[in-house]
Amino acid sequence: MKKILVIHGPNLNLLGRREPGVYGRTTLAEINRDLSLCARKEGLSLEVFQSNHEGEIVSKIGSADGRFDGILINPAAYTHTSVAIRDAVSAVSIPTVEVHLSNIYAREAFRHQSLIAPAAVGQISGFGRVSYELGLLALSRRLKNGAVAHAKKSAPRKTRKNK
Ligand code: DQA
Repeated sequence: MKKILVIHGPNLNLLGRREPGVYGRTTLAEINRDLSLCARKEGLSLEVFQSNHEGEIVSKIGSADGRFDGILINPAAYTHTSVAIRDAVSAVSIPTVEVHLSNIYAREAFRHQSLIAPAAVGQISGFGRVSYELGLLALSRRLKNGAVAHAKKSAPRKTRKNK
């Protein structure tokens, strides 16, 4: 059975009462329950970890090599600041999917950049609690089917101008 490490970053322990207008009323326990159900259907096993400390998240990722087949992470505020977490994801050879409850691209400018995304296999953002489920499904498909081939760059289409 493939093993997935789920990492929830800072302040996500406060979900349910934290800025409900942005993050909804769902608690972290409910999200973890959704993930367990989804994991059971997909035949995956899960370990869940939440931390408000960057170094703990870095250490958790660093110790995952050889023990986990995939990582599902919401790095929360560290998404936008943490070179250390990005380097940890790059250092281990474990496919990692980044998820966000809110659409980070529709929010303040400082949230538009993810330092983690270039080291991840993909990112899902903006679907509330469903982002996690979609992220886990994406990871599951990836583990079953291998990497998705990137679409071949096709020759530029002829337009009236460049004909
Ligand atoms: C978040 C988005 C981040 O910008 C923010 O700092 C969070 C939560 C999300 O899930 O929408 O803590 O990662």
